[in-house]
Amino acid sequence: MKKIIVAIDGYSACGKSTTAKAVARQLAYSYVDSGAMYRATTLFFLQNQINIAEVKQVDNALKAIHIEFVFDEKEQVSHTHLNGLNVEQEIRKMYVSDKVSEVSALPQVRNAMRYNQQKLGSLRGIVMDGRDIGTVVFPDAELKIFMIASMEVRVQRRLLELQQKNEQATAAQIQENLLHRDHLDTHRSENPLRKASDAFELDTSHISFDEQVDFILKLAHQKIYATV
Ligand code: CDP
Repeated sequence: MKKIIVAIDGYSACGKSTTAKAVARQLAYSYVDSGAMYRATTLFFLQNQINIAEVKQVDNALKAIHIEFVFDEKEQVSHTHLNGLNVEQEIRKMYVSDKVSEVSALPQVRNAMRYNQQKLGSLRGIVMDGRDIGTVVFPDAELKIFMIASMEVRVQRRLLELQQKNEQATAAQIQENLLHRDHLDTHRSENPLRKASDAFELDTSHISFDEQVDFILKLAHQKIYATV
């Protein structure tokens, strides 16, 4: 059976990663959270006090970063590992969220991530979510989805997510972080977030999780079984 690439892009907290994970499970594809790669890189930069204005420092840091997704059999999910350590929880914290879009705007960082992401998708049969997956990483992806949701819904979703992890953050702090990242992600010169011309838009403000997943699965099946 033909294997395709499903590229899911969109703003933060629109439900991309939960939806992408469910789609990948249903298709028996692998799932790659490209945001986790940018987050792990940011964590490394913060831990090692890398000055992002210093090109050489950034280059050396990138050479010292090894990111892997390790499947946890017990939990049946993949965890992000940075240089052999599980950083899945740490990279979701607000202090990383506050810096990630500045680190992600660096051309060297984007080149390094894109190289690794393209390697991960070289055999197709993959669902990847992020900001530039359908536009830059896999412009030839068979299926591209652009997810959006209202700011109110996005803030509530992120608040719930952080509360479930016992992370302290107010709705106002979350909204400020989302607006700040939206601005940086859409205005950076290198690969800004934008909808690919051939992407299907999916507004998740008022539909259920199952409806979101079904919307993508239907399109994926059409592409997989298409004869041309
Ligand atoms: O989880 P959330 O939706 O908030 O964001 P994420 O997918 O974890 O991505 C975190 C940040 O990484 C984004 O705000 C972008 O600045 C950056 N990113 C990117 O530039 N390109 C990607 N393909 C994925 C993430």
